[in-house]
Amino acid sequence: MYIDFWYPICTTAQLTGTAPVKARVLTLPFVAFRDGDGQAHVLSDTCVHRGGGLSRGKLVNGRLACPYHGWQFEGSGHCALIPSLGPDGNIPARAKVDSYPVVERYGIVFAFLGDLSETERPAPPEIRDYGQPGWRAGLVTFDIDAYFERSIENGLDPVHNEFVHALQGNIKFRPDRMQVTEDEWSSTVFVRMDPPKKGTTQLENLRDDLNPEHFSASSGHYGANTLITRISLSKDNVFVQYFFEQPVDASHTRIFFVNMRNCMLEEQNDARMEQINLAIAGEDIAVITQLNPVRTPESSTKEVLVVGDECIGQYRRHLGEWERRGWRLDLKALEATAGDVAWAIPSPERRRSKNWVLDPAPLLPASVPPSARRS
Ligand code: FES
Ligand SMILES: [Fe+2]
Repeated sequence: MYIDFWYPICTTAQLTGTAPVKARVLTLPFVAFRDGDGQAHVLSDTCVHRGGGLSRGKLVNGRLACPYHGWQFEGSGHCALIPSLGPDGNIPARAKVDSYPVVERYGIVFAFLGDLSETERPAPPEIRDYGQPGWRAGLVTFDIDAYFERSIENGLDPVHNEFVHALQGNIKFRPDRMQVTEDEWSSTVFVRMDPPKKGTTQLENLRDDLNPEHFSASSGHYGANTLITRISLSKDNVFVQYFFEQPVDASHTRIFFVNMRNCMLEEQNDARMEQINLAIAGEDIAVITQLNPVRTPESSTKEVLVVGDECIGQYRRHLGEWERRGWRLDLKALEATAGDVAWAIPSPERRRSKNWVLDPAPLLPASVPPSARRS
């Protein structure tokens, strides 16, 4: 798991403004809430007084009040009131919790979980064509008992389709029709496939004009935890899926799934599209929850990669680069201290001020000096 990326925390619909929402991401607790202006905030969920869980607290005058002794925290993470000290009480400088940059879009509250400055960090996730005329989007969340990297790698794998997905019938992978591209934050595999034969898949029921010329698929990752897949049956029959993955812990992931289509735009088709998408996801889940080991092996000698696995290799090279920059959490250290130490993912404010109560979550050591790191 990696700090310094944008992670989905909760949905806009969950964050009603009347109660905070708890989320567990990168094994650590976070809380989301709306202030009096409706602005969403994401904080570390550990009260620095004596460890109260802020997400069990209440919203009071746009602040989040701890359920234990009522300390009130603003969206900035600063404590603004300690009731036992009275309204004029002196607030200690250390009475602050980490507050993370937030963007709210596509019905999802995303937080940047890391301390990079705005100019260093990757851009928040973007969905091309979202809200544009001729496109329709749906959002659903679901939980899987799998490590998030296994899920991303599954989506980047063009070979599994014909074996895992009954829906896609006899879509044959052809290595000579595959192309892999990459840039600093992403890799994409583009595959031109033979369309399914008539009568072998439900896909053709969507529309009856499968066009071999336009039949293509691509999948790619953006950053560590976003997967984007695109299936084009023709230019007027395009289905794009965005999987914003929330690594909960080393064997659980919550997926915020936005599906886009440029056909069948009527609302009455939403339920059927969601049903088809979840059925496909269910076929993937059945496989990736049974992989051994649960997490990606540390050594490449423990797998045999062949043609078709290129995009997975690209993803892993990106992850390796982010590990060298010092962004990879030390999961073993986190597990070893469970119950004894409260950690926090460092927020950007930690670069500007000192005196933080919670220690920054342990990271594997960087192997690239900061000056040589791409940013
Ligand atoms: S633990 Fe939060 S106010 Fe005491
Ligand atoms: Fe799949």
